[in-house]
Amino acid sequence: MSLLKTTQIIKDPAVEDYFVTLRPEPSFGRYYQKHGDRFAEWFETGKVVVMDQAPIDPDYDLLWKVVFPYGKRSLKKIKSDEITKPIKNKKHALIRIFGDDVELARRFRQEVIRIDGLLFAAAAALFPGYRFLLEGSKITWRLSVTHTEGLHFDVYAGIEPGHVLRIFLNIDSFPRVWCLGDRVETVLAKRTLDKTWGNDANAWNKRITKEYGGDTFGVEPSPSPQHVVMFAPGSMWIVHSQYVSHGPLFGRRMVAVSMDVDPETMQTPDLLFANMPARLRGAIQ
Ligand SMILES: [Fe+2]
Repeated sequence: MSLLKTTQIIKDPAVEDYFVTLRPEPSFGRYYQKHGDRFAEWFETGKVVVMDQAPIDPDYDLLWKVVFPYGKRSLKKIKSDEITKPIKNKKHALIRIFGDDVELARRFRQEVIRIDGLLFAAAAALFPGYRFLLEGSKITWRLSVTHTEGLHFDVYAGIEPGHVLRIFLNIDSFPRVWCLGDRVETVLAKRTLDKTWGNDANAWNKRITKEYGGDTFGVEPSPSPQHVVMFAPGSMWIVHSQYVSHGPLFGRRMVAVSMDVDPETMQTPDLLFANMPARLRGAIQ
């Protein structure tokens, strides 16, 4: 059992300090009672909200026994839907992970269903003003080692650029280590936003990630300044991953929530990700 219960943040003075670290509360309802709609404000304005010892209580004895396959048949992440759907053949995620260990597979599936329910309830409790669009909302489970991803801004290819709420939960015994760099507006303030940029916010994120030197796997660190955060086991964090550059340095077991927020229900709808090109060119004040 890890002794680290508090997230450690090594701040780079060259990067904006956008962290909001909250004291642990016994329930998500209590978090909302204390901080109210500041959760929506923090999320929409690109703050990184850290909640240590999140009131989720994962079954660590069970989860730490589970490792997704490596090598040729490796699984980086699995959508919860893939875990909970009926088993029809050997391609099913549970068979790929557990083989003949039916009992462990059954317990894992139950725990996924339970924690998913708590995470959806957490999103509803912390953001009661939001309506979530179920089509774009999902939870993914990542029970494998990931490391040295470069700093990048998330791009959701193939879908309308919506406003995606991300909530992450470290369910491993070891901290999840991330680099976190500049926010998108800080990077774009140094660019001339001429016609070549077009009007597609996703394309903007792709372009600046490339220019920014990130989104690569390797031993070289990203060239841009960055904070280093060691998210404690059991911690949960909220970050607008389309607006804040980030890259995992090391991580093992994590659950990641993506909720598509109905733009009409945002606290400040002009902050909608799809509006970024117009907003930064001054079309929306
Ligand atoms: Fe990302």
